[in-house]
Amino acid sequence: MYRYIYLISILFFTACEPKSHSNLNGKQLLEQKCSKCHNTDLPPKTFQDEKAPPMMAVAFHIKDFIKASSESDKIPKAVEFVKDYVVNPSASKSFCDKESLKTYGVMPSQKGKVTQDELEAIAEYMFEHFTIKNLTAAQDLQNRLNAMPKGKRIALKHNCLSCHKINKDLVGPSFNKIAKRYKENITQIAQSIKNGSAKKWKGYRNAIMPAFGEKISNDDIETLSKWIAKET
Ligand code: HEC
Ligand code: HEC
Repeated sequence: MYRYIYLISILFFTACEPKSHSNLNGKQLLEQKCSKCHNTDLPPKTFQDEKAPPMMAVAFHIKDFIKASSESDKIPKAVEFVKDYVVNPSASKSFCDKESLKTYGVMPSQKGKVTQDELEAIAEYMFEHFTIKNLTAAQDLQNRLNAMPKGKRIALKHNCLSCHKINKDLVGPSFNKIAKRYKENITQIAQSIKNGSAKKWKGYRNAIMPAFGEKISNDDIETLSKWIAKET
């Protein structure tokens, strides 16, 4: 289980802290200034009537096509390309194939909407984040998540597993113990997830179970409760 949490941390935390030279946040700026047209997920989501190629495709594309004297010169060149392209886009400069260019149309210039410093931070983040390595890790994680029972996925998503382990006590009792106590009473499990719980369990330093009713849908709470009840 720790492995999943570890993987998630890599994706959501490490990836969020690019070693940018400035203190501008490239990830945040990318969301603000570019995600209206470019999908920024990794792996990307594609839509029927998308306005632009997904940012991952753009990053891969530029890295493939940019001319540089050496491998180490590639990223700085690619960053320069982005800084120029966003304010001075044109069909002749674009690395997009003709077919896609026709479908999307040339990107409207973002002059005045984004500064060169901001663009540098955005571009540095792009080439650091949209890599084959991060894509593989993200797909790998997605496959692992898909292979899990849905209840476990929900538990992972809402950090239940930072306080509960399946078969060992942590901050709260193990799900095995909870399942034993409430085997015939899934409604009680659901109630406690919804409203929280306190003082029902001895030996957990009077720690309190927070309420999740506001954060998790009723359907998901039901799935979660059934999954816990089975973990005896
Ligand atoms: C209004 C929609 C829109 C916004 C906002 C937008 N783009 Fe684009 N962008 C496009 C379209 C459409 C294309 C594909 C056609 C082309 O290459 O010009 C594109 C292409 C690009 C390309 C060239 C891709 C290639 O393969 O040559 C780069 C680089 C790029 N965008 C970066 C950005 C960045 C960085 C931002 C945010 C600062 C951004 N774009 C914001 C619509 C947009
Ligand atoms: C901050 C730590 C923490 C988190 C996060 C947490 N729990 Fe708990 N949980 C506890 C503690 C402590 C108890 C024991 C409370 C008590 O003594 O009543 C508990 C008890 C429970 C119980 C038994 C309640 C009862 O009625 O006996 C269930 C079921 C449960 N947790 C499920 C979950 C689920 C599902 C999640 C995620 C949505 C979750 N917990 C997240 C700490 C936590």
